[in-house]
Amino acid sequence: MSTNINRLREIFQQRFHQAPEIGARAPGRVNIIGEHTDYNHGYVLPMAIEHDTAILGRTRPDAVLRIYAANLDRFAELNLEQRTRNAEEPWTDYIVGVADELFKLGRDVRGADMVVMGDVPVGCGLSSSAALEMAALVFFEQAGGFTLDDAEAARLGQRVENHFLGLSTGIMDQFISRCGKAGQALFLDCRSYEYRLTPINFDDALFVIANTACPRGLTASKYNERVAECGQAVTALQTQLGTGGAHLRDYSLDDLRNIQDTLDDIPFRRARHVITENERTLAAREAMGASDVQALGRLMDASDASLRVDYEVTSRELDVMTLIARQHPACFGARMTGAGFGGCTINLVQKDGVAAFQDFLLEHYQKETGITGETFVSSPAAGAAPVVP
Ligand code: GLA
Repeated sequence: MSTNINRLREIFQQRFHQAPEIGARAPGRVNIIGEHTDYNHGYVLPMAIEHDTAILGRTRPDAVLRIYAANLDRFAELNLEQRTRNAEEPWTDYIVGVADELFKLGRDVRGADMVVMGDVPVGCGLSSSAALEMAALVFFEQAGGFTLDDAEAARLGQRVENHFLGLSTGIMDQFISRCGKAGQALFLDCRSYEYRLTPINFDDALFVIANTACPRGLTASKYNERVAECGQAVTALQTQLGTGGAHLRDYSLDDLRNIQDTLDDIPFRRARHVITENERTLAAREAMGASDVQALGRLMDASDASLRVDYEVTSRELDVMTLIARQHPACFGARMTGAGFGGCTINLVQKDGVAAFQDFLLEHYQKETGITGETFVSSPAAGAAPVVP
């Protein structure tokens, strides 16, 4: 899987009656562990997946963007001088948001004709929006003849979400979409932006992604609510402990227990999830380095329990899916992945049991929920890059 560039070239030619001159692609991602930790300045361990978004196009002499979204069969014409959200064609917001942030940096943003196409499932927790943002950024970089540093590129994508789209998201999705490397997971410190690539080469296990096929409900408001609850916990920690640490990353489980009596139950549990998830992510990096799939699986299960009980971002369908997964003998561990509230799970599965696991999971999920899910296996893929148009 990954976007068919030949097909995209044909579509561009049909639409704009010329050959494209610039090409860009960027992948979606699956997070192995480290969920809802990024905006708390913690640790994450995602990998880029083979599903991606690609853009082919050519620059124009004016400030107009003409964009055709092949998956949606929608066309939009916009002026780069008026960079506002578009209620009728909301998919353009990700591209215009990137242009807007580039303008703020004083970069040379060119008008262009573009065709966009991708195969990252939308609304499933696999970061289709980050893939579109990062593909658009690589496109604008080539069109304007400049290159951003990788961390700066990821931060720009985060600002698109935070400022243009009003979501208080962290940096994980854009960072992995930009910096992913084939065959590797990426351990990222979301405070310093230092990262370490971690090869995924277990002899006997693979990651299986399973989609509940349930669109995420009210994700934006619930997500922002979780960010605010973490902020409440930090304020209480600062006040009670007299410290300056401005993020949950700065506190230990002992710190949290020491102020438990003064904190409401909800912010307490949100903070407990974040603090323990950071510990699990550090432990998972070690387990991956040692190819200890049993330990990694246990950490994934523990992460899922914490996301369900303390952070409350799972859904009935996600819980059914992970519960069924754990009943299969080939499964080392299973958890929801991404923001939650619907979307996908990630499962660590013994290689020779993968086919049987997928059948078992889909059959029982269908019986339990009446919904037809889907599963797929992706190798860890490369990050955003130009493609030959
Ligand atoms: C979404 C956000 C990320 C991260 C995850 C949860 O994918 O975009 O920044 O917070 O949710 O881990």
